[in-house]
Amino acid sequence: MSLPDGPKSPSIWQMLHWITMPFPFMRGCSDRYGDPFTANIGEKLSPVVFFSNPQAIQVILTSDDSELFDSPGELNALFEPFLGSQSVIGLSGDRHRRMRQLLMPPFHGERMRSYGQLILNITEEVMSQWVGRKTFSVRPSMQRISMRVILRAVFGLNEGARYQRLERLLGAMLDRMSKPLSVSLLYFPMLRQDFGPLSPWGSFVRVRQQIDQLIYDEIAERRSHPDASRNDILTLLMSARDEAGEALTDAELRDELMTLLLVGHETTATALTWALYWIHKFPTVREQLLKELRALDGSLDPSVLFRLPYLNAVCCETLRIYPVGMLTFSRVTKSRVELMGFSLEPGTVVVGCIYLAHHRTDVYPDPDEFRPERFLERRYSPFEYLPFGGGVRRCIGMAFAQFEMKLVISGILSNFELALADSRSVRPVRRGLTAGPSPFRMVVKEHRPSRPAQIRQDSLINS
Ligand code: HEM
Repeated sequence: MSLPDGPKSPSIWQMLHWITMPFPFMRGCSDRYGDPFTANIGEKLSPVVFFSNPQAIQVILTSDDSELFDSPGELNALFEPFLGSQSVIGLSGDRHRRMRQLLMPPFHGERMRSYGQLILNITEEVMSQWVGRKTFSVRPSMQRISMRVILRAVFGLNEGARYQRLERLLGAMLDRMSKPLSVSLLYFPMLRQDFGPLSPWGSFVRVRQQIDQLIYDEIAERRSHPDASRNDILTLLMSARDEAGEALTDAELRDELMTLLLVGHETTATALTWALYWIHKFPTVREQLLKELRALDGSLDPSVLFRLPYLNAVCCETLRIYPVGMLTFSRVTKSRVELMGFSLEPGTVVVGCIYLAHHRTDVYPDPDEFRPERFLERRYSPFEYLPFGGGVRRCIGMAFAQFEMKLVISGILSNFELALADSRSVRPVRRGLTAGPSPFRMVVKEHRPSRPAQIRQDSLINS
């Protein structure tokens, strides 16, 4: 027996089911075939084995760069139309390791914390657009916040015509590719036909060209006016040299910048949108959060907010119940691997199914209930709780995204009393290559600005 059991329907049908209804697809397979199961959703409709057992996930993620497993970038070709072929997500082996080392530092430790006040300021800026409005759509606001934060971290800029065009075009590109029909273009390369600016692929390609031009213009400007005092990510990448003393080419720079800009803002925007939904769906959760914030006596100190236990539990539970990334990236067996009673042949593609791992009743009783307290009552291993994946491809922005979520939520709750605009239930739906809430609106009930000293315009960090 080499591959675990799985759906017998035609591969194309499995793929369409996965694209249009990913959550019912994963649940249906797990109910019927158990853990693990095999589904034909890989490249060219090839089989992929889904694991949600924590011990199996541990084996995969702790040996994904060994004789047992590999984590080749070629298996992430789905991202290539957005990110290019040289993105860290598509690199393998030494090149992958080296690029991660270059990209990680700004998203950790002191460098990350230095963005705290900036995140609060950007939240304030976006919230100011809600004043005087009765209702607003949540996702666009959250996307605006996370986009501005990442543009600032990556390029060190947050104003000017180029910045504004980039913000608008990146948002347009993601919105265009978020619908199931457009997602099919990513899964089925033969559908990528440019029938002019009004066709789905044609319009995607044109927006991407405009974004590329803006990025190349920024790179050219930095090359002609080097400024060693800057410490944004673009500056760091431009000064990096490999063992042979070679710098990154413009095309390499473009792919890494695009990766951070797109992956870094879309995922966090989704997580924030879910968080606002859950916090306002359950008044006790909001009350408990407000109690924790009130105890700070009006101070919004980023390093204190980062450590608030209930706020942390709310963010963890938000990322547990509907993880933005439903699966880890694919790993592949390098030799014969015995796992959970199966003997997987070399070349078998496997994924950690984050969603199903987060819904195991033996680990999370009543897994469909939003209950932040579970994160106060017990600690989960990194193989039971893995919204950011693990191993050699663990999310580069993990700490940064959690930091940003906590600050944005605190900023909003401290300044506004909001409510869900109606009682319609919000469903998890596919959004491009990830998953997020169906659109919903919120009502502005009261605006009680926090003291100006808490969010100071004069303390913008110059990254
Ligand atoms: C709530 C927000 C986020 C979630 C849920 C999330 C989730 C994930 C997941 C599940 C993976 C795959 C890990 C694996 O296969 O083991 C990943 C990889 C990655 N993430 Fe995130 N992410 C988030 C935010 C960010 C941010 C803010 C950035 C950038 C600043 C970022 C950059 C990346 C990159 C570059 C990779 C690929 C790493 C590699 O291939 O080595 N992510 N993320």
